[in-house]
Amino acid sequence: MKSITVLLLIFGYISASQAAVSLTVDGLKATLKNKHVELNFNANAQIITAKVDGTSLQARGASSFYLDWNNNGQGYFHPSSIHIVEQTADRVHFYWLQKNIQKVFRIELHYIMEAGLNGVYSYAKYTNDKTYNLTLAETRTVYRFDASIMSQGTNQQRSGILPTTKELNQCTTIQDNTWKFPNGTYYTKYDYVAYLRQTNYQGVYGNGFGAFIISPSREYHGGGPLKQDLTVHQECLITNYFVSSHFGTPPTVAAPGWNHIYGPWLIYFPTGNNNAIMSSVVKQVTTEQSRWPYAFVKDDEYPRTRGQVSGKVHGQKSATVVLWSSLDEDFDKQQLGYLYSAETDSTGYYIITNVRPGTYRIAAYPTAGSGSDSLAESRVTLAAGAREHVALTLNEPKNIIWSLGQANRLSNEFKYSDQPRNYKWATLLPVNLNFTIGSSDPKQDWYYAQPPGHWSIKYQDTADGKGRILRVALAAVSRKPHLQVFVNGHRVGNIYYGNDQSVYRSAMNSGTYYSNVFNVSAAQVVSGENSVSIYMTLGQIMYDVISLQRG
Ligand SMILES: *[C@@H]1O[C@H](CO)[C@@H](O)[C@H](O)[C@H]1NC(C)=O
Ligand SMILES: *[C@@H]1O[C@H](CO)[C@@H](O)[C@H](O)[C@H]1NC(C)=O
Ligand SMILES: *[C@@H]1O[C@H](CO)[C@@H](O)[C@H](O)[C@H]1NC(C)=O
Ligand SMILES: *[C@@H]1O[C@H](CO)[C@@H](O)[C@H](O)[C@H]1NC(C)=O
Repeated sequence: MKSITVLLLIFGYISASQAAVSLTVDGLKATLKNKHVELNFNANAQIITAKVDGTSLQARGASSFYLDWNNNGQGYFHPSSIHIVEQTADRVHFYWLQKNIQKVFRIELHYIMEAGLNGVYSYAKYTNDKTYNLTLAETRTVYRFDASIMSQGTNQQRSGILPTTKELNQCTTIQDNTWKFPNGTYYTKYDYVAYLRQTNYQGVYGNGFGAFIISPSREYHGGGPLKQDLTVHQECLITNYFVSSHFGTPPTVAAPGWNHIYGPWLIYFPTGNNNAIMSSVVKQVTTEQSRWPYAFVKDDEYPRTRGQVSGKVHGQKSATVVLWSSLDEDFDKQQLGYLYSAETDSTGYYIITNVRPGTYRIAAYPTAGSGSDSLAESRVTLAAGAREHVALTLNEPKNIIWSLGQANRLSNEFKYSDQPRNYKWATLLPVNLNFTIGSSDPKQDWYYAQPPGHWSIKYQDTADGKGRILRVALAAVSRKPHLQVFVNGHRVGNIYYGNDQSVYRSAMNSGTYYSNVFNVSAAQVVSGENSVSIYMTLGQIMYDVISLQRG
């Protein structure tokens, strides 16, 4: 009995010392290491070497693990001090601090390494410590690895071989980060854009190694449920955007005193063959979700006691529910707060868990039917650990005569909308088009986007002395579209939009959403064939749904 105890003690001691995590700080330089991973950082918190099981994975001659921002020009994180939060054999937690730079946020960039894990956690805390508003067009962290080791990329929605800079240098440049290969196919970094709030991991892998960003929660990003952003791209690069103005979201404007925690995320280094790497990543996502909110973050801006909001959305078959804390911002444009979303199930029920205590706006929008202008909204205040119920009602418009697509803020019922993002699809759109209700097929005969040109919908109707309500909901507006909408030759709509930069950057389903509801007078309705025509002279748009209702 006694000898067993001694043996156990010795065994315990040996395994603890082998697995221990260590931090060495030299001025502003730091080395963080455990049994599998060794990270050497320079004084700007950028990586010098990143080794996994003794193999160097860092990109050669390129900056990596950097934090930067764009605000009419690129700026890089420039810390002035380093602070250790926790240092034991099991866990090291430290951060670099940047402050007192004109027109730039106070930023803490944290790293947390645990003894047994093939990876390192990171998060950033931004504070406006100035007396004036601070702005950001975008901010992110960027990780570059050795493209000769890891040539595959994935963002969960899409996987493939990422081209190298050398390959792209032999191609024709078409536009911003978009190339045409000698065989006529296109590649753009926007091919690997994803809906962030539906993405738990993005990474690169190959030859026995992988490097992934695992995001168990996306509560801290700017933008709404359909926020899209870059994830991985050419030359073995992983981007981790906190906020950006890509695909139609506005810049961040933060008032004095504002602060926000972006993250934590896990930078995970699985090893093995490609299948082993991918199953390890999927498993790790579940582990990280079960650890969220992380106990190692001890900050008032990251409350650990969370609540939940659930309830029913009545009146509509399916809906998206959005819960957001920045009360002065619309959810799809929000940049300053925390945002959650959920889909209703077949009974209309939704549940959002792990919600920070606070006061929220809560809204539901339809993901079925024709009520493209429907939006139900309420407010809810959640105490730490509380469970609140919020019921919302979305009414489906009655007397719909026909509908092309369904209200869901996406162009996903139309031709090419199911294709992987690529520049080529926008080059295949017809300039002029006739669609006949009843005989044409939305999936074949109507396209996910319209370029300048004349698209018409023909349908049978009867002059019955009543007007009509025509809904033309747009899922995206790119390059400043100008649309004129005609019913039987009468102009019922004339609208101009800005540029959400989505259609020409390979978005296939959405950009910025706009609802339009036009009145058609009784005198404009004819018996027999009628037509709705959309004539565009400038820009590109995506359609969500077009429908006609008896008034
Ligand atoms: C075209 O060339 C690129 C770059 O070499 C390659 O990745 C792609 O698979 C090729 N596509 C076809 C259809 O041949
Ligand atoms: C400062 O930012 C806040 C939003 O955070 C905004 O309401 C206010 O108008 C801004 N003030 C100026 C002077 O831009
Ligand atoms: C659409 O139909 C109109 C007649 O209603 C015709 O003049 C036009 O050429 C047709 N356009 C296309 C692209 O078929
Ligand atoms: C459309 O008609 C309704 C009902 O007559 C009216 O309340 C509304 O203001 C009209 N909208 C427009 C854009 O003319």
